[in-house]
Amino acid sequence: MPANSPATASTSAPLPFLGFGLGLRTQHFQQVLTQSPAVDWFEVVSENFMVAGGKPRYFLRAIGERYPLVMHGVSMSIGSADPLNFDYLAQLKQLAAEVQPAWISDHLCWTGVDGRNSHDLLPLPYDEEVVEHVVERVCRVQDYLGRQLLLENVSSYLTFSEQSMSEWEFFAEVCARADCLMLLDINNVYVSARNHGFEPREYIDYLDPARVQQFHLAGHSDYGDYVIDTHDHDVPDPVWALYRHALRRFGAVSTLIERDDHIPELPQMIEELDSARQVFAEECAAGAACVS
Ligand SMILES: [Fe+2]
Repeated sequence: MPANSPATASTSAPLPFLGFGLGLRTQHFQQVLTQSPAVDWFEVVSENFMVAGGKPRYFLRAIGERYPLVMHGVSMSIGSADPLNFDYLAQLKQLAAEVQPAWISDHLCWTGVDGRNSHDLLPLPYDEEVVEHVVERVCRVQDYLGRQLLLENVSSYLTFSEQSMSEWEFFAEVCARADCLMLLDINNVYVSARNHGFEPREYIDYLDPARVQQFHLAGHSDYGDYVIDTHDHDVPDPVWALYRHALRRFGAVSTLIERDDHIPELPQMIEELDSARQVFAEECAAGAACVS
């Protein structure tokens, strides 16, 4: 760990290494049940299953009997200046009681203010005041849910003019002080690095391996001068290269292929997942610490 990284010994029991997973998408529900594909685990978008009953909950239950699940949310708005939404958190807690996920994640961002929802994952100003604000809220959420939360780094296209920390310093500081874990989206690191002109390996090298519980791998749209985090392409070569670097830094971390648009047939998704397994095997053979 770099000398100036925050000290971060976690006080909670370690979560398991789940292997290689996919985001569970509606168009694959039936196939997952009938074909039992070679996927180690699935990540489900929490908000898609918050309505009790109906087909989505039927598939969730049936798939959850066959595969480990994790819950990934988009609406916690942990960085907002609005009060925490305990109606939402109650629904999340109830869903978790049914799903029994290995863990619950959301994003280190804000999605709205004054009761208005942007339906977007917006970046925060990176400074001490915001660290304190977010840490206090993460601690309250973790107390309420009775478990550690994972926070994901979002991609960004702008930065605030007045901030005193890099994104990676902010991310590390929040997670260390709130004693929460990281969902490190490798593609988001790459997208933000391209948009803001920083070195993505510096970001990865700063983070404490003990905090990194999950990776996201995804594709993006590259417009030359800027990159948009569209999640509608295969994982491109620069993101695979950064994944290799992350494996050498963090060792065995549960890895998920995230695809939200132009979603291919399940066999194609599994091919991409197998590419991740292959990269992992190669890095292990080359000396990465592969035992979780
Ligand atoms: Fe992600």
